[in-house]
Amino acid sequence: LVACCGHAATVEHTFDLCQPATVITAVNGQLPGPTIRVHEGDTVVVHVINNSPYNITVHWHGLFQRGTQWADGPEMVTQCPIRPGSRYTYRYNATGQEGTLWWHAHSSMLRATVYGAIVIKPRSGDQGYPFPKPNKEEIILLGEWWNQNVFDLDREAFLTGILVDRADAYTINGMPGDMHKCPGSNRKPRTFKLKVQSKSTYLLRIINAAVNTPMFFKIAGHNFTVVGADASYTTPYETDVAVVAPGQTVDALMVADAAPSRRYYMVASPYNSARPSNQPFRKGTATAVLEYTGAHRRTRRPLFARMPRFKDTATAHRFLTSLTALVRPGQPIVPLAVDTRMFVTVGLGFADCRPEQTRCKNQVFAGSMNNASFVLPATISLLEAHFRNVTGVYTRDFPDRPLLEFNYSRPPRNMDVTTTKSTKVKTVRYNATVEMVLQNTALVARESHPMHLHGHNFFVLAQGFGNFHQDTAEKRYNLVNPQERNTLAVPPGGWAVIRFVANNPGMWIMHCHFDAHLPIGLAMVFEVQDGPTQDTALPPPPADLPQC
Ligand code: C2O
Repeated sequence: LVACCGHAATVEHTFDLCQPATVITAVNGQLPGPTIRVHEGDTVVVHVINNSPYNITVHWHGLFQRGTQWADGPEMVTQCPIRPGSRYTYRYNATGQEGTLWWHAHSSMLRATVYGAIVIKPRSGDQGYPFPKPNKEEIILLGEWWNQNVFDLDREAFLTGILVDRADAYTINGMPGDMHKCPGSNRKPRTFKLKVQSKSTYLLRIINAAVNTPMFFKIAGHNFTVVGADASYTTPYETDVAVVAPGQTVDALMVADAAPSRRYYMVASPYNSARPSNQPFRKGTATAVLEYTGAHRRTRRPLFARMPRFKDTATAHRFLTSLTALVRPGQPIVPLAVDTRMFVTVGLGFADCRPEQTRCKNQVFAGSMNNASFVLPATISLLEAHFRNVTGVYTRDFPDRPLLEFNYSRPPRNMDVTTTKSTKVKTVRYNATVEMVLQNTALVARESHPMHLHGHNFFVLAQGFGNFHQDTAEKRYNLVNPQERNTLAVPPGGWAVIRFVANNPGMWIMHCHFDAHLPIGLAMVFEVQDGPTQDTALPPPPADLPQC
């Protein structure tokens, strides 16, 4: 069965958010881009026609890509970019997963406007949901908006070594809503409206496509029952607020059971533990409006949702640690024997400027994992170098432990913690069970980094604050029904333990899903070796894969 989503052309377009003359790169002239709707097991075919002036690739965030590893999409990891004026067709299967995922550009900062939802329904349709069938489904894409061209912003950040991580607006389905003030004018930006029928149940597929910001999401007067996260079903969890880090998705049922005569704000507000609260970062709030059909229109302002404070780590942590997997037959279970154990620090530090960074003074921010700041190759993708045994592109010495041990959860007195730019990968054999402790560092800021692994889901066994201690943490491991995810928000000044089976031969990047942190090296790559049989080995690349 082929579910072809037609032509997803990348074109330059003008969007009217606040500045009528802003030119952005978008797909099919839409922001957000088109939704890919399939059933589990379907084949997806997407033709990307690059009419933009930029190199681009598209990544299918959270899709396993087993057998189609070359279609994963991150630039210089699994492929060279699609050049301006050329096209490429991605082909892959939506097999072995159900729920909400998404797609986005995986080149420079272009994903700020090149993104859309992927909905994978059960093979048998809505009957296959492990929860009562909703009356209707809605996609809620949270995003960020820049008034400047994001490609230029990215370039500027690279040359100066200064992070650009503050958006001009936050958006819900591409619209900031009427709370947003357009600087220097009285124009009101557009507002997304959700029409609901009283007493109906809605399945909200909430996706955080924001570039650098975790979000709190609420609908005034309504609660949610979370039933899925990152396309993995969860035990139903009741809440009035959802917390979604960049890259993550949350599926939640909402019953339209409030007074139909009112209108209600739907609010997405930033969560950031790292910033002083007086920074403009916190001012952004995106709003949308929920209205009941049939009720006659009131002019009065919609009911607002009381949002958690900008730095409300307690609320974020409660939500993010309360989810558990829905255990049912056929669902993967946690492997108990571990083959490879790693303790990996994640965070920001400083490194010396590189010669290409012409406007950089002395030192730059550098993201690193175990003191290695990841640099992508320039002339051949990692997957191609792996497949063709090309040497000199990467080294296999990604360390299993950090170079230095210190009190990770506070800013140290001595900032001189060595970070080196390199292209180190961790090689694991096919089907190895990998356990990784992700220890956040606080050299620059106590920040929750959303760590995303390509090509696999992982189980989240435990999370906590402070420094990780094996003996106390191990007692808290959930080996029964831990949540399964592809993106984990490592607690600020804390740690998390994940476990996964490396059952997908190829090269899989794990990185911070803040777009400001990926190009500065907050990443590493797993090289998963071939299995013993033909269908457990990496297939050769498609003949038309873009070349560098
Ligand atoms: Cu959603 Cu490497 O990305």
